[in-house]
Amino acid sequence: MASPLSVSSVALLTLVAFILANSLLARAGDPDITSDFLVPDNINASTINGTFFTNTGFRGIFGTIVPKLTITKATKTEFPALDGQSVSFAVVQYPAGSVNPPHVHPRSAELLFVLKGSLDVGFVDTTNKLFTQTLQENDMFVFPKGLVHFQFNSDPNSAATAIAAFGSVNAGTASLPTTLFSTNIDDDVLAESFKTDVPTILKIKAGLAPPA
Ligand SMILES: *[C@@H]1O[C@H](CO)[C@@H](O)[C@H](O)[C@H]1NC(C)=O
Ligand SMILES: *[C@@H]1O[C@H](CO)[C@@H](O)[C@H](O)[C@H]1NC(C)=O
Repeated sequence: MASPLSVSSVALLTLVAFILANSLLARAGDPDITSDFLVPDNINASTINGTFFTNTGFRGIFGTIVPKLTITKATKTEFPALDGQSVSFAVVQYPAGSVNPPHVHPRSAELLFVLKGSLDVGFVDTTNKLFTQTLQENDMFVFPKGLVHFQFNSDPNSAATAIAAFGSVNAGTASLPTTLFSTNIDDDVLAESFKTDVPTILKIKAGLAPPA
């Protein structure tokens, strides 16, 4: 027969749980670095100058008209100097009537600034409560870290442009339509999960497939 926990062991367990929870919270972001900045192994650190800290990948971007939703990123991949700095950036271009489908960024919140046009945005918290807003030009919205969110340019005639800032060099994106329907999860699993039949799942998959 197990003996009941004494008051002092309960207090100790509570303390341990509290310390664990706090240390996990403190680490819920990119790892901190112990130098001013990080230089990739393939670059001789003594040769870097301001060019290393410059990203020119957005030059001319606002002069282009895009045929479909286009996201241009400056993450650690495109801009190696970001490594260790816990920030990244993206420009999102929405043609008239386009949607950035429900997705999550597992490693960062997103701060979205509407540069041009108007966007209907929303996110769903872990109690399944939906928060929506219609953003006007120059409005800013924050999507909390790890929550499902979307943006929709409901204007049938005008494009919209937004810039997104992230608190991670690699916020990551899991787009629900792709994650669920374009990754070979078994059709029976999807049919059962969505309370439908396999033909319906196949129809959704076909719609998501890029045109041949
Ligand atoms: C790195 O660059 C410095 C300065 O140009 C040079 O003296 C050094 O030999 C280089 N180191 C390597 C490993 O190439
Ligand atoms: C910085 O270094 C790059 C090579 O990495 C070189 O092309 C450029 O001229 C340098 N810029 C300055 C201002 O020295």
